[in-house]
Amino acid sequence: MYSNHSRCRACGYGPANVPEGIKAEDNGQRLIPVFDLGLQPLANDFRSEREEQAGFAPLKLLYCPRCSLAQLSVTVKPEILYTNYSYLTSGSVTMQNHFDRLFDDLGICQLNAVVEIGSNDGKMLAHWRHRKPELKVVGVDPARNLAQLAFEKNIGTVVSTFDREAARAANAIQPDLVIARHVFCHAHDWEGFIASLAIMGGPETRYVIEVPYVRELLDKLEFDTIYHEHLSYLSVRAIEALLADSPLALDSIQEYPIHGGAILLTLRRKGYSDTINPVVGRYLSQENFTLERWMEFSKDSCNRILELENRVELLAASQKKVCGFGASAKSTVTLRACHFSRKQIRFVCDNTPQKQWKLSPGSDIPIVDEGALLREQPDYCIIFAWNFADEIIAKNQPYLDAGGKFIVPGKTLQILPA
Ligand code: TMP
Repeated sequence: MYSNHSRCRACGYGPANVPEGIKAEDNGQRLIPVFDLGLQPLANDFRSEREEQAGFAPLKLLYCPRCSLAQLSVTVKPEILYTNYSYLTSGSVTMQNHFDRLFDDLGICQLNAVVEIGSNDGKMLAHWRHRKPELKVVGVDPARNLAQLAFEKNIGTVVSTFDREAARAANAIQPDLVIARHVFCHAHDWEGFIASLAIMGGPETRYVIEVPYVRELLDKLEFDTIYHEHLSYLSVRAIEALLADSPLALDSIQEYPIHGGAILLTLRRKGYSDTINPVVGRYLSQENFTLERWMEFSKDSCNRILELENRVELLAASQKKVCGFGASAKSTVTLRACHFSRKQIRFVCDNTPQKQWKLSPGSDIPIVDEGALLREQPDYCIIFAWNFADEIIAKNQPYLDAGGKFIVPGKTLQILPA
């Protein structure tokens, strides 16, 4: 189901690489464990009661003392994670606003062709083509069920994990922009990923990678964004280390609030510009993701998990009804970390048809439609999709009006109304 990972995928730090079957020379290089949630189910493995789960795998983070990259200790086989994938790009207003911001900031209006890697069900490309009908677009995504949804929106998709062959196929439209949103940290082979990017486009092409920024994870205690799909937790220092011997270089950096705090890295071919954008240097000098900082994060996250577990236990013990909102992958991590079952959390509301009437992975907690919140009017509702908290609270005002309370996880547990 998974393989062990011990060499830093950004800078190569780790045990010496030797051909299989030969005992490794011990070079003393070890990635350092910094956070461990034990055996966990796959965060998007939503199944009905009768279906068998894909299984459990260790969820443990290792830290690279050379380039600061944090990475999982195992790599779950991509064909297990992505063949029948239930994660759908959000259709929320928050997400559409983000697509619009990217459209404007990246100057999509002036472009002819865009390739999206990890195009999911084609929502972003369809949104952009709606704003510029003559834009040529093609997606690359390994999930056949999602590619089918993209085809229905008239978005052509190369159904494949992103590799050289997929890059060649997508390159048929000669993209002037290649964008990979929240997919780079799902990739195991970063050198292969960058080499495949470099196959596409021409001298002027921009390569844009959007990923969660590790500073936000550490600052905001976003431990629930750590799950098997996210193999790495990226810093600018780590991407610089990765690109050192590649044909591409970091050209600019922007930040966006989406998904709890993301960083958008624009890469260009080396030699495209003689000047180095001072923003890159600024990030490098400010980043301070030390081992001590990770240890602190680990301790604080464990305390936060305990706090939520205790608080909900107390509520359940006093006959209060508690539910969740947003069956995001984050919800799987929190529900499992807190050892919650249907006894504490009656159900989780979610508007994704592919998740409804299934169970939260590794638990007996059912996923139901969004309307259940008003129908059942539980005393408390934990917003697991905290990245959409404002939108979820605004559209469920009647729940608050009838006396319901939201619990919003974050650096502290917020109860609304207080
Ligand atoms: P994500 O943070 O991984 O995108 O997951 C958010 C989940 O929350 C996703 O399963 C959809 C769900 N959701 C709702 O059910 N209703 C909403 O209004 C929003 C914004 C999200």
